[in-house]
Amino acid sequence: MDKKALEALLNDMSTEEKVMQLVQLSGSEYEAAAEITGVERGQAKDNVRRLAGSTLGIWGSKRLRKIQEQYMSEHPHHIPLMFMLDVIHGHKTVLPCPLGQGATFDPEAVKKGAEMQAKEAAADGVHATFSPMADLCRDARWGRIMESTGEDKLLNSRMAAAMVEGYQGKDLRDNAHVAACVKHFAAYGAAEGGRDYNNTELSEHTLREHYLRAYGEAIKKKPAMVMTSFNSINGIPATGNKFLMKKILREEFGFQGVLISDWGAVGEMINHGFAEDQRDAALKGMMAGVDIDMCSGCYSACLEELLNTGAVSMEMLDEAVLRVLTMKNDLGLFEDPYRGLSMDGPVVTEESRRLAREAVAASLVLLENKGNALPLRKEKIAFIGPYADTKRLQSSWAFSGEDENTVTVWEAASEVCEPENRRVATGCTMLDQDAVTAREICHEEDWQEKNDRLLAEAMSVAAWADTVVLCLGEDSTQSGEATSKARIQLPAVQLHLLREIKKTGKRIVTLIFTGRPLELMEVRELSDALMICWLPGTEGGHGILDVLTGKVSPSGRLTVSFPYTVGQEPLHYDMYPTGRPKPDEKGNYPYTSRYLDCENGALYPFGYGLSYTSFAFTDPKLSAQTMSVRGAIAASVTVKNTGSRKGSVTVQLYIRDLTSSRVRPVRELADFKKISLDPGAEEEVSFVIREEMLRFWTAEETWESEAGKFHVWICNDSRDGEPLEFQLI
Ligand code: GLC
Repeated sequence: MDKKALEALLNDMSTEEKVMQLVQLSGSEYEAAAEITGVERGQAKDNVRRLAGSTLGIWGSKRLRKIQEQYMSEHPHHIPLMFMLDVIHGHKTVLPCPLGQGATFDPEAVKKGAEMQAKEAAADGVHATFSPMADLCRDARWGRIMESTGEDKLLNSRMAAAMVEGYQGKDLRDNAHVAACVKHFAAYGAAEGGRDYNNTELSEHTLREHYLRAYGEAIKKKPAMVMTSFNSINGIPATGNKFLMKKILREEFGFQGVLISDWGAVGEMINHGFAEDQRDAALKGMMAGVDIDMCSGCYSACLEELLNTGAVSMEMLDEAVLRVLTMKNDLGLFEDPYRGLSMDGPVVTEESRRLAREAVAASLVLLENKGNALPLRKEKIAFIGPYADTKRLQSSWAFSGEDENTVTVWEAASEVCEPENRRVATGCTMLDQDAVTAREICHEEDWQEKNDRLLAEAMSVAAWADTVVLCLGEDSTQSGEATSKARIQLPAVQLHLLREIKKTGKRIVTLIFTGRPLELMEVRELSDALMICWLPGTEGGHGILDVLTGKVSPSGRLTVSFPYTVGQEPLHYDMYPTGRPKPDEKGNYPYTSRYLDCENGALYPFGYGLSYTSFAFTDPKLSAQTMSVRGAIAASVTVKNTGSRKGSVTVQLYIRDLTSSRVRPVRELADFKKISLDPGAEEEVSFVIREEMLRFWTAEETWESEAGKFHVWICNDSRDGEPLEFQLI
């Protein structure tokens, strides 16, 4: 439909019809089996259900066709219902969680993964996904760090932009793509204390310098939607925050799509103490420019009265409704309300498995490999631990992917290790008794008895083995929404298993499955090899065995700092220098910015990861020592594979502005390139440094660069390398 026809439709709609286009109802209003991802507020009134513009949490071509047929027949203008769903890292074929996908440092691969997710979701009748999550996350206590691509604004920017492109493709009308939704706007990851939904206190400088960057870069790719976040920022809830939604989002970022609230967030402005009642909340949401009220009931209950009293103008309403109708039009729903429903439902295919398997292998981060414990030797290998043979390898945000499609570590091992050389044992429960979930409550025996039995079985399997692959980690229900934790160690029952296995003197390869950084000091000491597997999804077992056996060399790099202790959180590499920087060497001068009982930096820093081969970085150089604002400098380094195996390496370019009108981080990622080299091969990797990479939010509150000296590192991780220097003149 063209714009003129759309406007004619809008003008022909009743006020009630217009209001209800801004209402999103829970899928449970239309389908009992809906996935509920928020607090339900009771059945909607019949007219709301009949006229609501969109719903969420349901999928399935036959199911949605039936719902759409009935809805369209009842709607006065036969405007199609829009179906939205959280396709965060997979629909049928589940990829690694985003914190793991970011670890590939391969935006192109992540874009392909988003394309595959969109194709599967569209075939199941989904029109829009609530992804990418572009929140910057520096705090391991915040469980939703799992859904992000970590602590760095540049990596997050490139990953979020790649996901928008992958989900939406070139034309939303084709049935292989879905509308994207950049979330959670804004700064949701800065929740005080790492506690979900909590207030964030950020200077405009920090907001602009760090937290807003990835949303802005993703919005340049024209996502159909942006979602408001639950948190307040400096005392004003995002969902009613005009500075964020009008000045930043609409004016500065030029976003013209649909602004949707998070689940119930309009009504939650009452809990925040920012709105007096539902009417006030609806008014504040509209004044901030929130187009769709997700499941709070405020718009459906109060918007017509706000219009009748003139508190909200018809013009304001029409603007919001036209954005929703335009999104439906861009999806081709007026021409084909059954978009994507004609196909049979999606299935996991060999092609989607291949893509997922490669993504898993590329996401794994090897942190330790003492004595080349990896790749595995052809010897007796015991796969032990609660993650050794479980199909629950996907996150809490992959609910549309069936566990039975998942390949476990043990199943994959059974395909490559000779029967006489492989054994498996669970070793312990996933969780400690105080956190045990309904899934693990042991009916036939009590928890301690069960763990005693599991340990005994594991010890006998370990005694038989030459090497133990110990599969430990955080249960997938312990990261994601509303899963903040003040302690980030492995469960005590798993640490006990590790200590007992250590007593056998066998080689230990520890795999950590997790959606957040964990405290791994003891695990590091007791393990010969240590690898982060994140939450790897459907092809987890295959991707992991491809790396364990050496078929693929590990190339993942940390997307987030792993601390010595949770006491360091929030922890991030791009910190400010302070007036008393701690000397790198063991300085004896006590009056510096440090802890008495812990290092300042991370146990494992952002950008860190090992390979099965080794790489030498030589001849780092700059093409010039000075650069004008219209100029550019080439920064290059020669990288050589000095080992005996093929491998990939992510060359990272960091920059530091040494003197400026506002303090600047000790270094910031400015670019990265992932290359693959055969043994003995070498390649010159070069980057172009331009003036716009040096801009920041100055003391004058302008986005500019300032003349002066800069340091440049071309290196292996955020703590590696020696700086080169140039001057911006
Ligand atoms: C949830 C989440 C958000 C999700 C939405 C719809 O509360 O905060 O990320 O997209 O509701 O499920």
